[in-house]
Amino acid sequence: MNHFELQGGELYCEDVPLAKIAEAVGTPVYVYSSATLERHFTVLRDALVAEGLRAPLIAYAVKANSNVAVLATLAALGAGADVVSEGEIRRALKAGVPPGRIVFSGVGKTAGEIAFALQSGVGEINVESEPELNLINKVGQELGLRATVAIRVNPDVEAGGHAKISTGKADNKFGVSFGEAERLYANAANMAGLRPVGVTCHIGSQITDLAPMAAAFAKMRGLVERLRAEGLPVERLDLGGGLGAPYFNTPEPPAPDAYAAMIAQTMRGLDIQFAFEPGRMVAANAGVLVARVLHIHERPEGRRFLVLDAAMNDLLRPAMYDAYHDIRPVKPRDGEPAAYDVVGPICETGDTFTRDRTLPPLEPGDLVAFMTAGAYGAAMASEYNSRLLVPEVLVKGAEYAVVRPRPTYEDMLARERPAPWL
Ligand code: LLP
Repeated sequence: MNHFELQGGELYCEDVPLAKIAEAVGTPVYVYSSATLERHFTVLRDALVAEGLRAPLIAYAVKANSNVAVLATLAALGAGADVVSEGEIRRALKAGVPPGRIVFSGVGKTAGEIAFALQSGVGEINVESEPELNLINKVGQELGLRATVAIRVNPDVEAGGHAKISTGKADNKFGVSFGEAERLYANAANMAGLRPVGVTCHIGSQITDLAPMAAAFAKMRGLVERLRAEGLPVERLDLGGGLGAPYFNTPEPPAPDAYAAMIAQTMRGLDIQFAFEPGRMVAANAGVLVARVLHIHERPEGRRFLVLDAAMNDLLRPAMYDAYHDIRPVKPRDGEPAAYDVVGPICETGDTFTRDRTLPPLEPGDLVAFMTAGAYGAAMASEYNSRLLVPEVLVKGAEYAVVRPRPTYEDMLARERPAPWL
């Protein structure tokens, strides 16, 4: 469910017409709904609590949508943050996420980032390999601190919507095997700079089938029980993110209550603190990208191109993952639908959002909305082709705020310097 609905013949975000935002801020522009963000977070939390899970930590995956206003919206509901860089730690702290609710993941943390995390009081560092374990121990000792760590396991399970976003197979770069995890956990318990508290996994993204998750989670439970049988304390089990969002072309993702029920069933009788790292299911359909139709270009060979003022630098997912985003007119017109190749102005063929998509009637100057664009949309945007970084707007009820303004060309150019010899 989301809060982008037609009212009086035009598309609104909550109580604000998208056209009003487009007029004021210009296009392309991302628009987010506070009510949808809040709803997704609370639906997941309530489903987990209803299944009797003890005070689960929901560490929202900042990479999905890292705007500080989005993070603050979730932090106000008690969300933690799953982060993968010093930049994301800084964003989470700025948004008011308590450091103890921050989980630091990622296969390539630097010594500097680890030190920053420890000095900031980050609640848990998820360890992805033995060299990283040793590095965290070293940094912890140098700082006279014990780093609270969880070992990330790669459960060797196939899941996720696309090869580029599957993370849980043994040939992916993420985590260690179950055998390795047992050995590293026992080693960590004897290292002066570490305090191992749990185990973690994340098997992929845009998962629309609970079966691979259930298989991976059952294996994780087995690991917890083996570690405890060896006398090692295991307080936390972090089950990652990965639950899919509805993109209108794929199978409907499982509802949060079905996800929670599967976890409760798999974990029945296990006394542990659970953590989750959802990104997409919280943010995806809380956001749209609004763009304007520049031209309708019909080639004699028969192809019809809808040329927008948004491009792959603003929304990379179609070019990168062949991702499907529903495209809706902001003010639908009467008339016949037609098939279009929807493209942006960037100078490469990859800048194609979709081919042969049947869309409702459109004219140059019309606004369209790419739906389900709140996750991995603005967060992956760039200035490719020296296009200005896309702005972001957050709506709450009848109010809206520009939470990342469009930079000026002067801003863009001021970041660069001539070399002394030029
Ligand atoms: N935790 C870890 C360790 C992750 O690597 C990820 C996502 C998440 C949590 C959140 O997963 P989610 O709940 O959002 O599925 N850019 C791609 C998605 C990349 C996901 C990377 N890791 C896309 O646009 O589809």
